[in-house]
Amino acid sequence: MMRWRPWLALLGAALGDVEPGVFMVQMQATHVARTARTTRTGRRHEVRQKPWEVHQYLACAHHKSGVDLTKKLVWFVFGELGVFGERGETHDLGLMTRPCGPGVCYNPEAPVRIEVDMCSAETVQQQREAAGPGVLKVVVPVRDPLEMVASAYCFHHEWKEWYNPIAWPLGVVPSMDAQDGVAFMAHRMLPQVANMSSFAEPQNDTFRIDYEKFTRSSKDFDEEARKLIDFWFAGLITEEEHGRVLEAAKKADLRRVPDVIGHTNSEECMSKARKATRSMPADLQSRYEEFRSRLGYNIHEDLP
Ligand SMILES: *[C@@H]1O[C@H](CO)[C@@H](O)[C@H](O)[C@H]1NC(C)=O
Ligand SMILES: *[C@@H]1O[C@H](CO)[C@@H](O)[C@H](O)[C@H]1NC(C)=O
Repeated sequence: MMRWRPWLALLGAALGDVEPGVFMVQMQATHVARTARTTRTGRRHEVRQKPWEVHQYLACAHHKSGVDLTKKLVWFVFGELGVFGERGETHDLGLMTRPCGPGVCYNPEAPVRIEVDMCSAETVQQQREAAGPGVLKVVVPVRDPLEMVASAYCFHHEWKEWYNPIAWPLGVVPSMDAQDGVAFMAHRMLPQVANMSSFAEPQNDTFRIDYEKFTRSSKDFDEEARKLIDFWFAGLITEEEHGRVLEAAKKADLRRVPDVIGHTNSEECMSKARKATRSMPADLQSRYEEFRSRLGYNIHEDLP
């Protein structure tokens, strides 16, 4: 149950502005909405009811679509509302990923769950049905599939997350130039991109975390974060908590708190890789154009 600690400490250290220890203490502060309830004897009293006692919260994320952004939004926002518990044990937040390395996955049954590279509209539909009407709230990070491929190439070219089999055999991508490496990663990323695209049809219990909108500017970030927070918590948190979670979300904005774990790529590599996505083998090119148009990206628009 304590497995989240190293991750959280790492994340805290990554923020740069706080020591991991301080970060832990901050996360332990528990604040929850108080809801008036009537007891069997007819007396009204206040009880603590957390949003995740009302809903189940699921994030379905795919490699390079904004996994870190999504994790941070969940961690900071739900952390602010006390998801990590009074003493820092977590029973209410879970993280699952495929494949699941030692110590990586925890709390698969938690009411707040992040799933990485293992979910699609189909698996979400199963969870929606199992949860019952109106219970599940889903977020899905979505990013331009060609940007995901360019980003995946640059990321793995730099040996980042070398343990992720998506870029195995080990050392292959680091040895490839942009042209070959982008085609290789585009092929490898097909399951991720297909599953992300399976959410193209809007659902009223699903919020799309648009990577492009969240990263365009801090102003756009705040606007999107506000929509996300309203989606998650409308009617479930107090005004005061609303203000605090909006502030907490800002810690997930890379323009305010730059990434030091190394999830971002150099502009030089990204620019070469973007060009290479324009000259991928024809079959890959057409698959990706199909995904892009399905998700609403303008196929004639130039990449940034
Ligand atoms: C894609 O979704 C299927 C279920 O539809 C799941 O079995 C598979 O693990 C997912 N793969 C990735 C990479 O998300
Ligand atoms: C969402 O859509 C479902 C059907 O897809 C419907 O049963 C449900 O009432 C809708 N919920 C809201 C809040 O509109």
